[in-house]
Amino acid sequence: MPALVLLGAQWGDEGKGKATDLLGGSVDYVVRYQGGNNAGHTVVVGDQKYALHLLPSGILSPGCTPVIGNGVVVDPSVLLSELSGLNERGVDTSKLLISGNAHIITPYNVTVDKVTERFLGKRKIGTTGRGIGPTYADKINRVGIRVQDLYDESILTQKVEAALDAKNQMLTKLYNRRAIAVEQVVGELLGYADKLAPYVSDTVLVLNQALEQDKVVLFEGGQGTLLDIDHGTYPFVTSSNPTAGGACTGAGVGPTKISRVIGILKAYTTRVGAGPFPTELFDEDGEALRRIGGERGVTTGRDRRCGWFDAVIARYATRVNGLTDFFLTKLDVLTGWEQIPVCVAYEIDGKRVEELPYSQTDFHHAKPVYEMLPGWSEDISKAKSFSDLPKNAQAYVKALEEMSGAPISAIGVGPGRTETIEINSFL
Ligand code: GDP
Ligand code: IMO
Ligand code: MG
Repeated sequence: MPALVLLGAQWGDEGKGKATDLLGGSVDYVVRYQGGNNAGHTVVVGDQKYALHLLPSGILSPGCTPVIGNGVVVDPSVLLSELSGLNERGVDTSKLLISGNAHIITPYNVTVDKVTERFLGKRKIGTTGRGIGPTYADKINRVGIRVQDLYDESILTQKVEAALDAKNQMLTKLYNRRAIAVEQVVGELLGYADKLAPYVSDTVLVLNQALEQDKVVLFEGGQGTLLDIDHGTYPFVTSSNPTAGGACTGAGVGPTKISRVIGILKAYTTRVGAGPFPTELFDEDGEALRRIGGERGVTTGRDRRCGWFDAVIARYATRVNGLTDFFLTKLDVLTGWEQIPVCVAYEIDGKRVEELPYSQTDFHHAKPVYEMLPGWSEDISKAKSFSDLPKNAQAYVKALEEMSGAPISAIGVGPGRTETIEINSFL
């Protein structure tokens, strides 16, 4: 049982943090492979609640080595404050490994994220404003700054100069902003070098050696399938690949090593930021899902848009990720509805469509076709096995499983570590 990938099957915030933490006790390494501190992963252990942004959720399991892979973009100030926050709460973070090839979110990347969003006006993406897109753009443009550059002042200076050359023209001439000084950026970045040094390593070598020794490695995705730059609702996406293939490129591990791909799937749907969302609700049901599900962003504090479960999206996630299992979360939130609508297909320009249309224009016009499933009113938060669930809740899970194309191997019935029904073991 070597490598597993755990990723979001919808638009993020499916409960990846909780699921990773649950497995963290039984795995040797937990690896973030893409994204950055745009992620907000909540983990509840006993009466303690942790909000993680950049660190893999395995950091809360003492036996587990947390790894930030080469595909992640790292804001050093956020990372250091996340580490010190955890240390203050008694969490040992000394095992953390950071890839020297990971790219750094520089202060100018954050500035560019904010000004470009402002200038997009009505057409904005609704980014988290954390500099994610501009940092990946620099990476692809080959003017990015990597963690290893912090240890060569002359190279770092040359690279920051190269990156700022064009950006300062843009900031001053197009966006009417002040130019950013090279020395100021270099000085700030060098200030992080010694603090990060104990963690920086060749994570590709470490992970592949671990896999050769039959250690268990879990890859934890940020964001979700529909926010993927290639497979999501472009341009309303993030700038990386949360889908399963991203784990290979973002950590330097070959696809032959991955034996299990687990999609985290909320029992309804949420989305933060702009972009199409066929099952979005603008009524009391949407309000109720938001209230009962606590659907407020961990990173930006924005209210999440809420809607019913969308099986078309779940099927799509199964396909593009090669999912072997689903972990269905937040089933408890649906307690109390007499009937629960589930979107089984779309109607697009008068035609019934069973699969996610590749055309974004079509997707923007997609209207959900609902099937009504009977609800339940019993409290399910104490359920420990599938048979503890009321019959209608069992039927809801079975219906979702059938529509979504992969077995539901675990069910979340509350935010806590223990509030989970395990059906098939992941390990
Ligand atoms: P992530 O970004 O995928 O890690 O998800 P978030 O942490 O942003 O959002 C998921 C929220 O749902 C968090 O507040 C979790 O504590 C909570 N949560 C996770 N699983 C369950 C569950 O099964 N039931 C309930 N009620 N809450 C859950
Ligand atoms: P986790 O890991 C939900 C959304 C933003 C925006 C779009 C692009 O907690 O599931 P970005 O700052 O990445 O350039 O923003 O992606 N977004 C998320 N939505 N959960 C997340 O992470 C997200 N990370 C980014 O709201 O619409
Ligand atoms: Mg989140």
